[in-house]
Amino acid sequence: MELLNHEYASALSTILQVIASLLILALGAGIVAIAIAYFIDNNQTEHTIRRNYPVLGRFRYLFEHLGEFFRQYFFAGDREEMPFNRAQRAWVYRAAKNIDRTVAFGSTKAIREPCSVMFLNNPFPPLTQEAHEASVVLIGPNCRKPYRPKSLFNISGMSFGALSAPAVTALSLGAKQSHCWLNTGEGGLSPYHLEGNCDLVFQIGTAKYGVRDEQGKLDDERLSEIASHARVRMFEIKLSQGAKPGKGGILPGNKVSEEIAAIRLIPAGQDSISPNRHPEVHSCTELLDMIHHVRSITGKPVGIKFALGDTQWLKILCKTIHQRGIESAPDFITIDSADGGTGAAPMALMDDVGLPLRESLPEVTNTLIQHGLRERIRVIASGKLINPSDIAWALCMGADFVVSARGFMMALGCIQAMQCNSNSCPTGITTHDPKLQRGLVPEDKATRVAYYHNNLVHDVELIANACGVREPRQLKRHHARQVTVNGQSISLAELHPYPERSTSHPL
Ligand SMILES: Cc1cc2nc3c(=O)[nH]c(=O)nc-3n(C[C@H](O)[C@H](O)[C@H](O)COP(=O)(O)O)c2cc1C
Repeated sequence: MELLNHEYASALSTILQVIASLLILALGAGIVAIAIAYFIDNNQTEHTIRRNYPVLGRFRYLFEHLGEFFRQYFFAGDREEMPFNRAQRAWVYRAAKNIDRTVAFGSTKAIREPCSVMFLNNPFPPLTQEAHEASVVLIGPNCRKPYRPKSLFNISGMSFGALSAPAVTALSLGAKQSHCWLNTGEGGLSPYHLEGNCDLVFQIGTAKYGVRDEQGKLDDERLSEIASHARVRMFEIKLSQGAKPGKGGILPGNKVSEEIAAIRLIPAGQDSISPNRHPEVHSCTELLDMIHHVRSITGKPVGIKFALGDTQWLKILCKTIHQRGIESAPDFITIDSADGGTGAAPMALMDDVGLPLRESLPEVTNTLIQHGLRERIRVIASGKLINPSDIAWALCMGADFVVSARGFMMALGCIQAMQCNSNSCPTGITTHDPKLQRGLVPEDKATRVAYYHNNLVHDVELIANACGVREPRQLKRHHARQVTVNGQSISLAELHPYPERSTSHPL
């Protein structure tokens, strides 16, 4: 027994000696490393802070980097952050997890702040049994295959490339479960879009990814191949995007894998930069030519997506449509807000170019009403519409449908780390790094996508019913008021009056 104790004691002392030696070695190495860093910092001339505060100055870069991630947890208030504050995001996360969405004690929203919108409750709302789901709206009445989308809330374009394969798969499965459509974005049609068997909108970007010939021109054979997928319900010609109007899509070379390159029909490993315009479209006439061309080949509804800036061209477009005949019109218009999201964009365009949806949506719907085209062209609103009140506002302003990109990214688990352009997205959504993608399990996240969609639509119905109408599409401008700079609110109908319908287009 004594012998055994002695052996244990000697083994323990050897282990302690080894640990002590390792610690002394580590300490020594640390001191040497600090001394080297001190010498380098003190003698370099590029960075002032490091020269003035050798070694310590290095922590500035570390904290600046970590601050992006930790600010939201420790310092930012509920209504402070951009682009989405914690209250907005928390609602999405709770809806996506299908957990309690009620709040206690009182609202933290500054409801008297300028631009704040309040919906006007009716003293006699419809009884629950009188209320119903949003009515179905038809898109593309003159097409061989018109489309009747089942939901008013759908998934906005985000390309496979900007998004990872598991993210696209989860969106596709979730869209199927919740009966909404999924827009492919401009990166072509991937097997992951098809995985869930959901309704799809195929986007034709300026580089015509997935439907291009060797010169980058639209390839009619490939286009009709895409259209032959029964699940592809509509085609969207992208003119511009709110986050970068005047610039084409950007996919950094480190995200252009062999697979993405094969789907887009471009070389792998090189930056994938779309032209800033469809080269063959530089007037309203040519735009209608392209819409006609795509529609006649595909037989399906064809629309356009843009961020509004200059408003005159819209009037010219409406006039040109009337000259050609009302069937020549785009079947839908997607209006993207200047503060829309993106995988990558220059800050100058992201911050300073284009109109926000608050201004562009009433402008577009009023122009269509004026020209007697409001019934012919369906309006899809896009841009920071991620909570029920945002969608209700868009419906009041005249949208037929709402789409969201970042709302659905949050349903997939996005934490707003703002790393979409660097292949290092910590939630596996916008990265092609398999180690980071591992955390995103498509089947699990698909359920969240569906819950988010369903809970959001449910709460939009709640707002509509509170305003005294039976379903969301009956919401009109007089159902809401907006706070102005002096703190007083005025009706949206007064702020953005419905225009007279032009007598020359009495449709
Ligand atoms: C990661 C990412 C990728 C996107 N890719 C596309 C695209 O391929 N085509 C497009 O028209 N818009 C693209 N967008 C813009 C969205 O479709 C949408 O118009 C914009 O983000 C506004 O909606 P949101 O505020 O709900 O995100 C992308 C947005 C994000 C965040």
